[in-house]
Amino acid sequence: MKNFLFFVAILTLSAAQALDVNRVYLDEDDIRSRFAGNGIVRVCTNGESIVGGEFKRGLVVPSPARLCLVTDGKAKSFSATFGQFEKPNRSMLHLRVWCDGKLIAQTPELNSTSGPHRVTADLKGARWVEIDVHAVGNPWAGKSVIGDAFIEMEEGFRPRDITCLSRQLGVLTPKSSDEPRFNGPKVFGARPGNPVFFRIPVSGAKPLNVSIENLSEVPGLKFNSDLNLIEGRVENPGVYSLKVVAKNAAGEARREIKLHIGEKLSLTPPMGWNSWNAFAHDVSAEKIRKMADAFERLNLADYGWSYILVDDGWQIKADAKEPRRDKNGVQLTNERFPDMKALADYVHSKGLKIGLYSSPGPVTCTGYEGSFLHEKTDALTYADWGYDFLKYDWCSYGNIAKGETVQLKYLYPYLIMGRNLRALKRDIVHYACAYGFGDVATWGASVNAQCWRTTRDLFDFWGGILTAMDQMDALWRFVSPGGWNDMDMMVIGDIHWSGGKTRLTPNEQYTHVSMWAMGAVPMILGCDLDKIDDFTLSLITNGEVIDINQDSLGAAAAKVQCGEGWSCWARPLDGGDFAVAMVNESQLEREILFCLEKAGLEGRWAVRDLWRQRDEGEVVRGYRAKVPGHATHLIRLSPREGARLSDRLGDIRENSWLRRAEKIRGQQQSAGCADCP
Ligand code: GLA
Repeated sequence: MKNFLFFVAILTLSAAQALDVNRVYLDEDDIRSRFAGNGIVRVCTNGESIVGGEFKRGLVVPSPARLCLVTDGKAKSFSATFGQFEKPNRSMLHLRVWCDGKLIAQTPELNSTSGPHRVTADLKGARWVEIDVHAVGNPWAGKSVIGDAFIEMEEGFRPRDITCLSRQLGVLTPKSSDEPRFNGPKVFGARPGNPVFFRIPVSGAKPLNVSIENLSEVPGLKFNSDLNLIEGRVENPGVYSLKVVAKNAAGEARREIKLHIGEKLSLTPPMGWNSWNAFAHDVSAEKIRKMADAFERLNLADYGWSYILVDDGWQIKADAKEPRRDKNGVQLTNERFPDMKALADYVHSKGLKIGLYSSPGPVTCTGYEGSFLHEKTDALTYADWGYDFLKYDWCSYGNIAKGETVQLKYLYPYLIMGRNLRALKRDIVHYACAYGFGDVATWGASVNAQCWRTTRDLFDFWGGILTAMDQMDALWRFVSPGGWNDMDMMVIGDIHWSGGKTRLTPNEQYTHVSMWAMGAVPMILGCDLDKIDDFTLSLITNGEVIDINQDSLGAAAAKVQCGEGWSCWARPLDGGDFAVAMVNESQLEREILFCLEKAGLEGRWAVRDLWRQRDEGEVVRGYRAKVPGHATHLIRLSPREGARLSDRLGDIRENSWLRRAEKIRGQQQSAGCADCP
């Protein structure tokens, strides 16, 4: 009898083991690390649990988060226990399971008192499976726990990475040619009498000689040919056309660059680098200098990258024992930033501009000294130190503004700082980092801000890019030269302060950069430039893509055509060309047909593939492209025989950027969002 029981026990054990072999738990390292979303997904430590529930193994998952796995029809089922994390929050969370893009199971929306919920889903036949955690209401809030979560696979199979679902694009940008090429802005602005500082972006084999033929026509302007830097001060308002020539052994290029002396700054979206994603609190003057060196080594300024921005962490902590300001109220810095002026001088000596960070509240987002009640002193100090850009981050101002009416609450602190910056004898770009609060896009320009954050922080997952695109679709009309919708730092390259590359697939990175170009969104890198790889470098040194972002017309793209899982966006460019982005929003490769009529275009147009920098012939009516999953095909259309704008649009050259964009939008609305007829 004893032997029999022993035999049964062994059988039971091996059956369980056999079963375990087919169970792929979501907390296994290679699966967990594929979760992408708003923060790190980590294994639960001992004692951490779901509110009101128990489990043996599990993950703490911030919302939103998404896991995509290729199961090749070899999966059987999924099950998991889902609930709020032990420190409950106010948001309602639920877990959803998708097979081949279709929702097949979900938990109810759970609040902190709901207790855990076991969810099971039949995955038979699925090519790919997506599991996501979503918060209802505010999608960027809340932590959940997924416990005892596994996929049962046929024996011998494991889920594969999502990138194998669709062909992934490699480096498309051709090697930069030896011939001189002007990149980036053709136009820039400065206030009368304030220092001018503009480095002319031009690529090509070195040595490369750049000169301005008619420099002497603009009193007060100087040219530093070592750095290709336009400097000086111009007192008289007006538009000055500068005839710039670049020559090297391979050839010569010419460009007319316009300097607007007037009230507007940032006539094209700012392009640069910010310290937060790469270094967070660990930022130091030393690291900032290294990034300026990297700009030089990588020739980034030749493509228009011009700002180095110090984010949070240069100030004194608000809870520190030491003073946070001197007797005159001037902000003091921590030991990692011994000399702010010297740091600015160093960055300027490379022909780059420098920015810093503060908050309208008493403390910044991570508890450093803010500018509340010191706005004027701080603006003067930043100018005195020689800074060119201020990221002004809402943070603790919410506590100050309690009880105010909505619009005033959000607008007021930016109005104060905007006025103080405007009064300086130095141009400091004002970035209102207001997360879309109080519809910042509608009033950003009125508080002397040149760009404004319309979204929460961007994280490196597909949902973040789609959210930004939704914002572009909703807010494109608030964009114009000198006023830009911002969607946060770009999440390409090595962007995790804990170390690690972006979790966006290569295809998704093409969509990310293409759409930032189309939306005229400030392109601010967040990666450690010392660790940059060839692929990331190729994404940021494609002059033809950057030209779209920096186009002088400053009209952001409107969505002109869309269907299930795809969309086409068009933006008119200075000189009569159009840029078009064909976005595959689905996981599988698909053919997208862009219908010219939907953007109000008639006649014959020449097509240029901007990522490959390749002419694609001429088109009438429709243009087709095979676009891999989550990738974007980006083209430039130039007018050829009979090219015109449909009667409903009139002559686009006669219209201001706003009217042009309005008309494109009007066309889309009347035509509807559907396939070509
Ligand atoms: C917020 C911002 C980030 C960064 C941090 C710094 O989260 O959105 O971009 O500036 O604050 O504390």
